[in-house]
Amino acid sequence: MKLADNKATLSFSNGSPSVDLPVYSGSIGPDVIDIRKLYAQTGMFTYDPGFLSTAATQSAITYIDGDKGELLYRGYPIEQLATTSNYLDVCHLLLKGELPNSTESADFHKLVTNHTMVNEQMQFFLRGFRRDAHPMAILTGLVGGLSAFYHDSTDINNPKHREIAAIRMIAKMPTLVAMSYKYGVGQPYMYPQNNLSYAGNFLRMMFGTPCEEYKVSPVLERALDRIFILHADHEQNASTSTVRLCGSSGTNPFAAIAAGVACLWGPAHGGANEACLNMLEDIQKMGGVAKVGQFMEQVKDKSSNVKLMGFGHRVYKNYDPRAKLMQETCNEVLAEMGLENDPLFKLAKALEKIALEDDYFVQRKLYPNVDFYSGIVQRAIGIPVNLFTGIFALARTVGWIAQLNEMIGDPEYKIGRPRQLYSGSVQRDVQPIDQR
Ligand code: ACO
Repeated sequence: MKLADNKATLSFSNGSPSVDLPVYSGSIGPDVIDIRKLYAQTGMFTYDPGFLSTAATQSAITYIDGDKGELLYRGYPIEQLATTSNYLDVCHLLLKGELPNSTESADFHKLVTNHTMVNEQMQFFLRGFRRDAHPMAILTGLVGGLSAFYHDSTDINNPKHREIAAIRMIAKMPTLVAMSYKYGVGQPYMYPQNNLSYAGNFLRMMFGTPCEEYKVSPVLERALDRIFILHADHEQNASTSTVRLCGSSGTNPFAAIAAGVACLWGPAHGGANEACLNMLEDIQKMGGVAKVGQFMEQVKDKSSNVKLMGFGHRVYKNYDPRAKLMQETCNEVLAEMGLENDPLFKLAKALEKIALEDDYFVQRKLYPNVDFYSGIVQRAIGIPVNLFTGIFALARTVGWIAQLNEMIGDPEYKIGRPRQLYSGSVQRDVQPIDQR
């Protein structure tokens, strides 16, 4: 970042002296006002619950222009990456800053592939969960549990440890997600098969059994790879900020990523694809497309607390570029699976059409986000609804790690410690119990 030509001046109506604050410019996007010395200079904090106007860090990984509906990983538009690259090359890009050349790509794919197996003991750890446990509960546990299995890569301040922890997590996430699924359905775990692609291997670990050879469908493999690319990073969202905050205490990388998994689980974040599909199924049960109007009235009625899941985004105030790519993939997958007339897809299209034309949504700039179509794609592939967020976690792991490593490598990094505006009781004395 560089100092901008202008500076900000904060003045007070009570006659307190005004304060000059430096302004910095990034390579693109809004400038930031540097308030780090504000408390020392004025005795005041800034107040910004939900971080609506706060840049918590500088970062060179991902850029979003929410008004234009633009998403760049290391400068490359998501549309180009999704149509010309593959997930592991995108991982290389996010982690190391550049797309690999063909030798680097082959080496990186081999490195990740060599780490896909998990410690055999992990399956016994997994057995401690109830069979009907939510996969995100299992994953939060298993990812955090990795720190108990890989002691040689837990020092977050050691670059070698960070590097190997990164590769381990990217490589093992598909294995862990598939294991959490197989455990729930009572089928044997499938060991990874390293002659398959990252996405192909995941499909086989999910849907293969030891009894039969599993043939990977290239259309589904490509669709899953695209889902992974589209979810790989998204700058300082809730789970990424959680990972950064958690990692800022110096905890080990597995623990920091487990915190990200836990945050992602919520329905306002990664849980939205699951919530979106559940919503579509509920409308379907109510009567399907014919009931869309009635459902939309509920959504617009603030007292109902009903939201159109898969719509709206804190940053995108235009079409989420990932939603467009996901819609394309959705068409391909439904055709491959012979599901072109899928009622939920038709319902989703009907909801989208109404929402894009309705004043409520237009005025609030609410557009479909990536989750609106990703649930339909995953359902068509055969992934159960409660595993959708697990797939998101799998794909986002690389983004979390890239952001965590960027933070640790930043000379300005400090433990994250927000302040508050205290509104509780002023000091008072503890009364004896019979007088309370
Ligand atoms: N349905 C109906 N109304 C909505 C929706 C929605 N999906 N999203 C926002 N609104 C309304 C709000 O009620 C608010 O209305 P108001 O101004 O009359 O009070 C206005 O639009 C602004 O919304 P906020 O909630 O202030 O926006 P915020 O940035 O805080 O929330 C969020 C963004 C959480 C994504 C929200 O749009 C939402 O809950 N969407 C549904 C869940 C979802 O799809 N999440 C996925 C996010 S993408 C991801 O994690 C990959």
